[in-house]
Amino acid sequence: MTRIKLGGGEGISPKWQPYTRKEDMRMWTKEDLQRLVRREVGDCRLIVVSNRQPYVFEMVDGILENMSPPGGLTRAIDPLMQSCNGTWIAEGAGDHFPVDERGNVGVPPEDPSYNMRLVWLTEKEEQGYYYGFSNEGLWPLCHNAFTEPVFNVDDWETYKAVNQKFADTVLNEIGSSDAIVLTQDYHLALLPRLIKQTKPNVITGQFWHIPWPSPDVFRICPWQNELLDGLLGNDLMGFHLSNDCTNFVETVSRTLRARVSSEYNIVDYLNETTLIRPFPISVDFEQICEEAQGSDVNLEMERLTDELGLGDMIVGLGIDRIDYTKGIPHRLRAIERFLEKHPEYHQRVVFVQAGAASRTNIGAYQQLSDQLDELIQRINSRFSKGRWQPIIYMPTSLPSATFMALRRLARFCIVSSLHDGMNLVAKEFVASRFDDDGVLILSPFTGAAQELTEALIVNPYATEEFADAIHESVTMPEYDRRSRMHHMREIVRENNIYKWTSRLLLELMQGTQRTKALQRDHLTAPNR
Ligand code: F6P
Repeated sequence: MTRIKLGGGEGISPKWQPYTRKEDMRMWTKEDLQRLVRREVGDCRLIVVSNRQPYVFEMVDGILENMSPPGGLTRAIDPLMQSCNGTWIAEGAGDHFPVDERGNVGVPPEDPSYNMRLVWLTEKEEQGYYYGFSNEGLWPLCHNAFTEPVFNVDDWETYKAVNQKFADTVLNEIGSSDAIVLTQDYHLALLPRLIKQTKPNVITGQFWHIPWPSPDVFRICPWQNELLDGLLGNDLMGFHLSNDCTNFVETVSRTLRARVSSEYNIVDYLNETTLIRPFPISVDFEQICEEAQGSDVNLEMERLTDELGLGDMIVGLGIDRIDYTKGIPHRLRAIERFLEKHPEYHQRVVFVQAGAASRTNIGAYQQLSDQLDELIQRINSRFSKGRWQPIIYMPTSLPSATFMALRRLARFCIVSSLHDGMNLVAKEFVASRFDDDGVLILSPFTGAAQELTEALIVNPYATEEFADAIHESVTMPEYDRRSRMHHMREIVRENNIYKWTSRLLLELMQGTQRTKALQRDHLTAPNR
């Protein structure tokens, strides 16, 4: 491994001048993104590839319904696809698909603006690739949650085969066109290399939606070289935080015979250059803010208040996929401690834990679900009085109006992840509080904590401090709540999903070319 120092930019063509200083300071809108896509993507085919599909159809009471898939990934990329009429390739899941013989369907279903193409996996493939290598291996490897990763050779073989299957579909979709392939997440780490090997001119980028671990942790993986080789088939690798980029560059430099520039976050490997850049993901602030004010949400607030007996209560809220990285037992222990320390809040505070079960084929998730049932039962039987139960648990898929109503009813929302790339629940809570009220209690181990500094930041492992933060959130004067929330809303309003997507696209289309030119200049320039 050799560390290189890049030149200072002599000889750069004017169209490659840095854009970020000017463009980073403005408020990005959907229309700006659409204009940018037209300018940058032009006639190229834009193909997004992810495991999770953006629209899932399920039969509910004999009617085909469009359900939102879990996680922020699909919501984040959808606006880009709606702007460019591209194709989104994903694994087929759900009950029923109104697809054609190639697996294509126009989406969004109510007003199609792009094409979704589904890749069908057998049960065995899904087991080895999704549950096995991706979620029992890579997921715990990348999160500091003290769950041991499992690396099984059969799962690895299946992961490779499924990555090849996705690559074949992508190549078939591209045909002879010029194309940009934007891959999402850890399920498809081998895909970019497979694409580049066959079509070196395709522009490739990947966003890694979870943290990247330190090199010492990553080397636990028996197939670390192959994974890195796959990812370096990308022209651009995006992570949420600078720390993830640093970890990735360090991992590459310790593992492969590559030349890296830690200063510029650039890797040269097999005569190709990959840029490593941070892009903190976000939400569609304006849309969430508007949805939160809908009449359906007002009605749902009334219904929930009645049904759950929330009338005079201070409501606390957690919304999570039921995952061991989210620190849900830690927050329940903090609520228990708060109730022990503050009996004056008995019959005055209710905590609603909502969110869908996830990856239920995996032992660690089944154990978590049992642990939550036990903890909630213990806390409720310890403190309940009359009709009051301190914890209401809703571990099912719920309509989006219900989630929105819960956000609006909440005095405080807890995000207590043990480790989280970003955590969009925190940003969604902030975006939905158009009334400028509500307190966010946020783990410092989320990417969101770097932006939302006006939250009450608390270590989920420190139960005593956590309980005190809950107390602070229920006693905080309205003026303080509003001023903190106002500040956080300004941040999410500005760093919205359109800015995230635009920066990613600009870096992919301009930054990578600029860097390649600089590299060429540097390598050919005399006396260096
Ligand atoms: O954000 C990480 C992520 O794995 C996404 O890729 C995914 O959409 C989300 O969490 C939900 O997980 P899953 O797709 O396994 O249900």
